[in-house]
Amino acid sequence: MIIILLGPPGTGKGTQAQRLEDQHGLIQLSTGDMLRAAAAEGSDVGLRAKTVMDRGELVSDDIITSIISDRLDQPDCAGGVILDGFPRTVAQAEALDRILADKGSKLDAVIELKTDDDAVLVARVTGRYTCTTCGKGYHDTNLIPAVSGVCDKCGGTDFFRRDDDTAETVTTRLEAYHRQTAPLLPYYEDKGILKKVDGLAEIDEVTRQMNAVIQSI
Ligand code: AP5
Repeated sequence: MIIILLGPPGTGKGTQAQRLEDQHGLIQLSTGDMLRAAAAEGSDVGLRAKTVMDRGELVSDDIITSIISDRLDQPDCAGGVILDGFPRTVAQAEALDRILADKGSKLDAVIELKTDDDAVLVARVTGRYTCTTCGKGYHDTNLIPAVSGVCDKCGGTDFFRRDDDTAETVTTRLEAYHRQTAPLLPYYEDKGILKKVDGLAEIDEVTRQMNAVIQSI
């Protein structure tokens, strides 16, 4: 099964992808996480990408498409993947169609986390933090660990905030979404594979709606 999660920054793609990974044995492929890992390793591509990401703009289609194509060839992806943050432009979507056709595969569904309130998204992104050890995501008010300062999943006590999670950069990222990524909605609607869930609903309710979509595939 190959599923795309589509929605603006802070809409809950990463949060829901982690849950679907746990519940359905799918692999989460987050292009944002891959680029941040490349930057942390200090690779040339990663460091160039970081400059672009810190401005809130999109990294070039060629770099992202090649990263995803290579990752989809890894054996752990054979059981199904959730694409989180890719594609983000029509050129990337067309490249993905070609990559999957070459691999004898195809998309099963594109799930839009529908949100029309940018102020809510800014509050979500600027309140977000992540466990350094296992990558589980939290929020200052919306999603806090059961024991303060201790990760529910791995017991880790170190957390980090992303460099691009400032209010100013989120505004640029939202503009990039509306201008470059929103055109993917009619692209996938025309293919008859676009499904919608309410991205402004409470986290468990969004998961319930996601699971209903997956059951229907
Ligand atoms: P990326 O890492 O993909 O960031 P993004 O798309 O901006 O999305 P976010 O991770 O900010 O949001 P999310 O939807 O995952 O929300 P989350 O679940 O964490 O990309 C970063 C950068 O990398 C880009 O700007 C670009 O430069 C580059 N890049 C990546 N992919 C690229 C590509 N394909 N092409 C070109 N460039 C690319 O939730 C946010 C917070 O809200 C969390 O704290 C969570 O707890 C909380 N929350 C979640 N859901 C709810 C809910 N329903 N109710 C209340 N709180 C909630």
